Amino acid sequence: MIKTVHKLNTPLKGEITIPSDKSISHRAVMFSSIAEGECIIKNFSSGADCHSTLNLFKSLGVNIQFINDKTLKIKSNGILKPALNSTYSCGNSGTTMRLVSGILAGQNFDSILTGDESLSKRPMKRIIEPLTLMGAVISSVDGHAPLTIKGRKLKGINYHSKLASAQVKSCILLAGLNAEGETTVIEPSLSRNHTELMLEYLGADIKAENNKVTIKPSKLTAKDIDIAGDISSASFFITAGLIVKGSDFTIKNTGLNPTRTGIIDVVKRMGGNIEILNPQTISGEEAGDIRVRYTENLKACTIEGDDIPRLIDELPVIAVLASQAEGETIVKDAGDLRNKESDRIKCLVKELSKIGVNIEEREDGFVIRGKSELNGGCETESYHDHRLAMSFYTAGLICKREIAINGFEWTKISFPEFEELFSKLKK
Ligand code: S3P
Repeated sequence: MIKTVHKLNTPLKGEITIPSDKSISHRAVMFSSIAEGECIIKNFSSGADCHSTLNLFKSLGVNIQFINDKTLKIKSNGILKPALNSTYSCGNSGTTMRLVSGILAGQNFDSILTGDESLSKRPMKRIIEPLTLMGAVISSVDGHAPLTIKGRKLKGINYHSKLASAQVKSCILLAGLNAEGETTVIEPSLSRNHTELMLEYLGADIKAENNKVTIKPSKLTAKDIDIAGDISSASFFITAGLIVKGSDFTIKNTGLNPTRTGIIDVVKRMGGNIEILNPQTISGEEAGDIRVRYTENLKACTIEGDDIPRLIDELPVIAVLASQAEGETIVKDAGDLRNKESDRIKCLVKELSKIGVNIEEREDGFVIRGKSELNGGCETESYHDHRLAMSFYTAGLICKREIAINGFEWTKISFPEFEELFSKLKK
């Protein structure tokens, strides 16, 4: 589907509520499915990725029902039952495949995990390696899906991860939950810690300190979970608010877990007008409202090191923001961006250049020289990547001439409500 975006000549105003956090929604379904008891999950994501997780656990025999479009009731005795054909689809979702591998590797049955074309190209050695050290038996197509997992009892490990990846860390911790002995993961920088927080909330014996987390075999007890809005989805609105002249609006009820708020720190470093209001805690996770206002004099900054895992998914839209900041914005240490739903460095540089952004590709990131007037007047390709499609839409709001976005339907992976929410602020 091709979407045409025109320059916005009026400011964005009002108030919106960002839908449910994708990372937390995945975990809520996974962990409640392996917990004992009944629970209600409020504000579950309507994105296709989280529905892949939900359908997968239904086919593993878990009783999951929708009470309304965003509320789930999950009832489990903590024991998964294999489906007749032992094959489970993860769709486009890397989080589903990598975390579920950690759960299935320690079961007393075999499984096959499949993915769509894009997921089948993404690297899985990063989880196969540590799981194999724990005694798992997994075969793959040269480190790619489909993954064939021979379920067996695993043993705990002490693992120094080369990557700051929450998917790798969570996979190992989930395998450790059901293994013999304790399991420790140490990562180079702290990645999002939703797994640690939720496992603790559900009663696991888990201890996290800085970049190190240790889990002992534990039983989980189901508990109701309320999910805050997704800061990654909010990032398109934060950017639009800062770059569309005269804008001033509030984004309500957004997750503000400090391992996810890198974008807010970057906006502050750039001198952007952003404020956090009504701080609160929702099921163990920090949350609040974000007020954002148009800022004429944004300044470039460097984004590197420990910043990266705290804003990895926001880098495409941060590139759009940086195009409107005076000076050179340098993004480095972000080589893993090449392993997302697309090669997000190569594809981003190619498409933003067409629009008129002065952007240069680097092996582990990119450099943007701002501020430049964006000409638009071109067709962009989203490469089946939801975050690229939404970033180009955000850029389109300030392009002199309209832009077309090919593959806009991929926004449904994480954020089906994206355009509807923008139209609320345009009125
Ligand atoms: C996620 C972790 C990140 C992120 C992805 C969601 C998660 O991936 O990019 O969108 O929910 O754990 P990595 O762990 O590969 O960095």
